[in-house]
Amino acid sequence: MMLEELRELKEKALQELEGVSNSKELESWHIKYLGKKGRLTVLMRGIGRLPPQERPAAGRLGNEVKAALESAYEAKGEALKREELERTLREERVDVTLPGRPVALGRLHLSTQVLREIYRIFAEMGFQIFEAPEVETDLYNFELLNMPPHHPARDMWDTFYINEQVLLRSHTSPGQIRVMRKYCPEPIRVILPGKCYRYEQVTARSEFMFHQVEGLAVGRRVTMADLKGVLIEFCRQMFGAERKVRFRCSYFPFTEPSVEVDIDCIICGGKGCRVCKHTGWLQILGAGMVHPQVLANGGYDPTVFSGFAFGMGVERPAMLKYRIDDIRYFFSNDLRFLEQF
Ligand code: FA5
Repeated sequence: MMLEELRELKEKALQELEGVSNSKELESWHIKYLGKKGRLTVLMRGIGRLPPQERPAAGRLGNEVKAALESAYEAKGEALKREELERTLREERVDVTLPGRPVALGRLHLSTQVLREIYRIFAEMGFQIFEAPEVETDLYNFELLNMPPHHPARDMWDTFYINEQVLLRSHTSPGQIRVMRKYCPEPIRVILPGKCYRYEQVTARSEFMFHQVEGLAVGRRVTMADLKGVLIEFCRQMFGAERKVRFRCSYFPFTEPSVEVDIDCIICGGKGCRVCKHTGWLQILGAGMVHPQVLANGGYDPTVFSGFAFGMGVERPAMLKYRIDDIRYFFSNDLRFLEQF
């Protein structure tokens, strides 16, 4: 009777196991037959109550059935795992023959590239980089540069004011005062790069935001000849060794004497063309000897110290170098433009 029940149970359990199709069902099956209160467990507990002569045979068969069910359970588990893996591989199949998606590489903005070129040239001549704030005060942007309120020269810079005292710097020259006040009475040789802002009509040549690089050297025997030497060297490294450089009288309130520096037109070689407006010359920067009052505002005694300063744009020289005919390309973020450099 008991033997019969064991055989039937085995057959039923194995049959049911075949229908199992996932690991959750498999666990339920295990609990149902082999768990602590499982059918086989319960049945085998009954063996102890059998007459003694029937117990050995029933015990043996019980163990055999148990072993058979355990190993069928293991085998089913393995099979299910394999099936699951195969299904995953099938569903998540990757076509390794598909061409890869190209990675879009970033690049340095043209203004950054030109700035770095400028840094390199001046670094070779011993200039260090100093950064000054973009949001400035009227005091530094104008007054300490020799332009008291209502000075007519302020008209040279159309300025964005934040309030009566605070503004977006219209040039990098206020940095001159900051460097002098920081390093006085040490000698100075620095360039000051950065963004400038002007409340100007945006045209092919003028942006409301652009970069400048200021230069400043202060020492006991700094002369106009030093200024000329530095700027000629710069122009030739930046625009070609064969460049002619011209110094033309000019006016800035913070330098005396003041000059503007031109190079012979790199497009027509000085013959005259549309770019140089048929003059043969291109204006590159403003410069001069630091005005004694500005030296004094920076903390230096103008009877002992002298200095030169210059200020150049970055985008306009870049336009000449790379033959770009509209400054608005620089900051309109058009990849067709940016990718060319
Ligand atoms: C100045 O800003 C003086 N601070 C330069 C200077 C420094 C003179 C030290 C003497 C001593 P200017 O306004 O000319 O000068 O500007 C200098 C350069 O900035 C110009 O030659 C030009 O390259 C660039 N620049 C000026 N305005 C714009 C603009 N709206 N868009 C693009 N570049 C500009």
